[in-house]
Amino acid sequence: MSENLRHIAFIMDGNGRWAKKRLLPRSMGHRAGVKRIKEVITACFEEYGIHTVSLYCFSTENWNRPQDEVKTLFRLLKTFFEEEIEYFRKKDVRINVLGFLEDERIPEDTRGTIVKAMAETKECQSHVFNVLFNYGGRQEILSAAKSLARKAKEGVLDPDSITEKDFEAALFTHGEDCNVDLLVRTSGEERLSNCLLYQIAYAEFLFTDTYWPDFDRKELAKCIDIYNHRNRRFGAIKE
Ligand code: IPE
Ligand code: IPE
Ligand code: MG
Repeated sequence: MSENLRHIAFIMDGNGRWAKKRLLPRSMGHRAGVKRIKEVITACFEEYGIHTVSLYCFSTENWNRPQDEVKTLFRLLKTFFEEEIEYFRKKDVRINVLGFLEDERIPEDTRGTIVKAMAETKECQSHVFNVLFNYGGRQEILSAAKSLARKAKEGVLDPDSITEKDFEAALFTHGEDCNVDLLVRTSGEERLSNCLLYQIAYAEFLFTDTYWPDFDRKELAKCIDIYNHRNRRFGAIKE
C-alpha cells in the first residue's frame, strides 16, 4: 500500500528502441510494450492500492509516424481491451479514454472496442484506468477553453465566476482525481511530450532509463520507493 499516491501516470516510451536493440521490427517492440501494461497496472491497483492509473498510449503527434506503425499500435490496443475487459470488470476498474475519439482517422473497429470497454465499466467505482489515446495536453486545454467560452456566449456561465473546478470539469479527466501525484516516463527521455499538462501541476516526475517493454513490477517498486522518499510541500514548509 502506498499512502498519498492516488494517481500515477505513465508515459510508455522506448518500445521502438527496445526492438531495435534486438534487431527486431518496431512492431515487435509495441507488441512487447502492450503486453507489459497488464502487469504494471495490476500491481498499481492490487499491490499499491492506487486509485487512478493513466497511461499515455497514442498522442495527437503520433499521427506523424508511418501508417503501418499506427495501424499496428491500434490493432494491439484493440486486442488488449478485448482480452482484458473481464479483468477490469472483475476488479471494478472504470476505463476512461482521454483524447479525441471522434477523429475520423481512428479505425471504426478500434473506436468500437474502446467505446464498448468504457460502456461496460462505466459503473465501476474502485479504480480508474485513464487511457490517453489520440491525446494532446494543449489540445485538451484548448478544447476545455472553447467549451467554457461557448457556455459564456450562451449566457449560462459568467466568465468572471469561472473556477478551477469548472475548468477541470471541462477537461477529459472531468475533475475526477485530476491531479497526478507521480508521473513516470520510461526510456530515458526527459520531456512531457504534451502529456497531461494541466493535471501535472504538482506531480512528482520520475525518469527511468528502462525501456517500457522491460518495465516490470520490480521497476515499478523502485519508482514507488523513490516517490515515497520525496518531500512534497505544495508551497508550504515541511520539516
Ligand atoms: C512508445 O514507444 C509507444 C508510443 C509512443 C505509442 P516508442 O514507439 O515511442 O519507442 P521509441 O521512443 O521509438 O523507442
Ligand atoms: C509520447 O512518446 C507519446 C506516447 C507515449 C504515447 P513519443 O515517443 O511519441 O514522444 P517524443 O516524440 O519522443 O517526444
Ligand atoms: Mg518514443
